[in-house]
Amino acid sequence: MKDILNIALPKGRLGEKVYDLFEKAGYPCPEIRETNRKLVFENTEAAVRYFWVKPSDVAIYVARGAADIGVAGKDILMEYEPDVYELLDLGIGKCSMIVAAPEDYSEDPQRTLRVATKYTEIARSYYAAIGREIELIPLNGSIELAPIVGLSDVIVDITETGATLRENRLRIIDEVAPISARLIANKAAFRFRQEAIRKIMESISTQTGETR
Ligand code: PRP
Repeated sequence: MKDILNIALPKGRLGEKVYDLFEKAGYPCPEIRETNRKLVFENTEAAVRYFWVKPSDVAIYVARGAADIGVAGKDILMEYEPDVYELLDLGIGKCSMIVAAPEDYSEDPQRTLRVATKYTEIARSYYAAIGREIELIPLNGSIELAPIVGLSDVIVDITETGATLRENRLRIIDEVAPISARLIANKAAFRFRQEAIRKIMESISTQTGETR
């Protein structure tokens, strides 16, 4: 029997696109489309086992070796700096890490800037680099609400279509970094299962090359 490669996929919208990519690359597991509560899917013939993982947890599974490879957003990799190899930019799940504020906001440089975000480390290093003193307000979601109700001055968050910012009358002040989905690998697995990982990496990069 072939040695199975364990792959952590991010659950949700991005995950479906990612699975499509793996399927087209020659690593199908059709059962994955048939059920929505099961978390592990295996195709022994293609020698792959997929796990559905919360997107922000993929890097943990990969870093700790529960998965050999996985797909994580650059936002998560920037925020947590997991000890993994980043192999490939998949060119999907594209969005931007931005700083935004209410349309009529004007900054008072004398005051500590209140920054609401899910991405505290990214915000901390962004403001450290420009030497701006901030107070971090960590939130778990609906970040756009914070400056509207006076909880913060600005937000650091991701935007994809821009609809959430627009509908809440916020404007982008700066782009922190472009974001997209990345193929990542466990460091030991990359060494010991190099052939299988390289093969999957090559098939996927052919696919992403075609879709770009
Ligand atoms: C993300 C992000 C923004 C929104 C941006 O939130 O935090 O709120 O998507 O997308 P848009 O530019 O296409 O409008 P998510 O949907 O993950 O939910 P959350 O607010 O709970 O974080």
